[in-house]
Amino acid sequence: MLDSDVIRDRVAELGERIAADHADRELRLVTVLKGGLFFTSDLARAIGGQLQVDFMAIAPYVVGQGGVARITKDLDDDIEGCDVVLVEDVVDTGLTLHYVLKLLKSRRPRTLEVCTLLDKRVRRIAEIPIAYTGFEMGEEFLVGYGLDLDGRYRNLPYVASLSREALSA
Ligand code: IMP
Ligand code: MG
Repeated sequence: MLDSDVIRDRVAELGERIAADHADRELRLVTVLKGGLFFTSDLARAIGGQLQVDFMAIAPYVVGQGGVARITKDLDDDIEGCDVVLVEDVVDTGLTLHYVLKLLKSRRPRTLEVCTLLDKRVRRIAEIPIAYTGFEMGEEFLVGYGLDLDGRYRNLPYVASLSREALSA
């Protein structure tokens, strides 16, 4: 769906925009492991300048399981007063992000924005404001550049869609 050159060029553009929008501010890139790791790594270098990265992990929201995601690893550092950009590989239903944003907002960052590489807008359930989007995608199940199927394919340098046959196999 997206080859590595296309991704690289778009990440460079996003990095320039984020850098310009946060000039002279202490920027904190916050990522939800593991999917956002690869994008964050490239984006942080595309932004350049002074910034810090921090990571959290959550057990994914499962529809019909009471509606609460669970933090399995919290951020190391306080974000109060920081310009926080939450970096995601993909926003799908938006339910996970909705929970994470609510949590981070309660810690009183100066600003809190979302940057996602991929937006599967047609699948959205929870409306989320997204400041920076790499690519709008359809409903296909995607792998690569951080996205996985049962933990595999994250390290592909491109984004591919998986066929129904591959998924059911
Ligand atoms: P949500 O539905 O927006 O809460 O998405 C939660 C998580 O589901 C994402 O952060 C991804 O880890 C995963 N996810 C959503 N769509 C895909 C996909 O197409 N491929 C791989 N993982 C996905
Ligand atoms: Mg994810």
